[in-house]
Amino acid sequence: MSGTSMDGIDAALVDFSGSRPQLIDHYYSPFTKPLVKELSALGNSANPIFLKKYGELDAQLGHLFSNAVLSLLKKSSRSPEEIIAVGSHGQTIFHGPGQTPPFCLQIGDPNIIAENTGITTVADFRRRDIAAGGQGAPLVPAFHQLFFSEPTENRIILNLGGVANITLLPINQDDLVTGFDTGPGNALMDYWANKHLGVAYDKNGDWANSGTCQKQLLDEMLKDAYFALEPPKSTGKEYFSSSWLENTLAKQPQYLPEDIQASLCHFTALSISTAIKKQAINPDRVLVCGGGVHNSLLMDLLQYQLPCPVNSTDNYGLNPDQVEAVAFAWLARQTLQGLPGNLTSVTGAKNPVILGAIYPGS
Ligand SMILES: Nc1ncnc2c1ncn2[C@@H]1O[C@H](COP(=O)(O)OP(=O)(O)O)[C@@H](O)[C@H]1O
Ligand SMILES: [Mg+2]
Repeated sequence: MSGTSMDGIDAALVDFSGSRPQLIDHYYSPFTKPLVKELSALGNSANPIFLKKYGELDAQLGHLFSNAVLSLLKKSSRSPEEIIAVGSHGQTIFHGPGQTPPFCLQIGDPNIIAENTGITTVADFRRRDIAAGGQGAPLVPAFHQLFFSEPTENRIILNLGGVANITLLPINQDDLVTGFDTGPGNALMDYWANKHLGVAYDKNGDWANSGTCQKQLLDEMLKDAYFALEPPKSTGKEYFSSSWLENTLAKQPQYLPEDIQASLCHFTALSISTAIKKQAINPDRVLVCGGGVHNSLLMDLLQYQLPCPVNSTDNYGLNPDQVEAVAFAWLARQTLQGLPGNLTSVTGAKNPVILGAIYPGS
């Protein structure tokens, strides 16, 4: 799994033989700064795109993904023969469900993963849902339902990646599971921290905590039309982009960089909590996964703004940094079993579809 944050690769080894998926081991491989720069440039509509660069990055990521798989196997003393399949999300370089015609693009050549590891690889999960009229995102809700739904409480699973998405798991198991992207997760805070401190992210939200939220800026950002849209909806870094932020800031008074970081953290939290409060179900608990769970300020704000407990998925059976990787392992399993992976109540697709393509192993 490699998400919109472009922080690196999360590889998870999962055992599905029991009644509940079990995370056996995981391995993380961070991206280098130059790679992140090249990948970001590829997804930036303002840039010309060189086909050669696209092809090179596709292959380079294919090698990095296979290396992550092989390193995980080494770490956990397993051989490729013991592994049924690799599920590879790929690196999103453009998410455009609202384009005409709609499309999204992930790169990281699965042929290379299947060849280098010898393991059957399932990849390109999103495009079949888009072909069926869906948003192609979020795709994690079906797994959230399987793993986290609980007959004694209404739950919301909140994934704080580069983009934030929620899954609503109603107490009544006959009610439809819904979910959507609420807007930015870590993406804008990462961008701002990188621009001013040269770091990948604002560790624990400490820098944001040193600033003061500016209400005028906060209100302006919350006015964005995306928040008023009804689901199904999904978004990406090509919408909530660095230009989106810079254009917004250009129309505002001058603020201190740390005040802008504080405002971005408040904005992220408020866009999420407002989306949650608008839902028909009142959650008894919000379970949080994704890297944003480590941002203490963001978590404190969410807890302050929401009327129910906000907990990490850690205490509910799954390491928050591994939830999405485990979800894509499960989606690969669905595909190999000939079962759908999308929830039409989430993505808006016309029908459930078997997601992705299968690249046979050796
Ligand atoms: N200690 C931390 N403090 C604050 N933010 C963190 C911390 N660790 C990770 N993050 C955030 O989590 C992001 C990575 O989260 P991840 O779930 O991998 O997102 P994605 O799925 O978009 O790749 C980082 O870019 C950063 O914003
Ligand atoms: Mg990541």
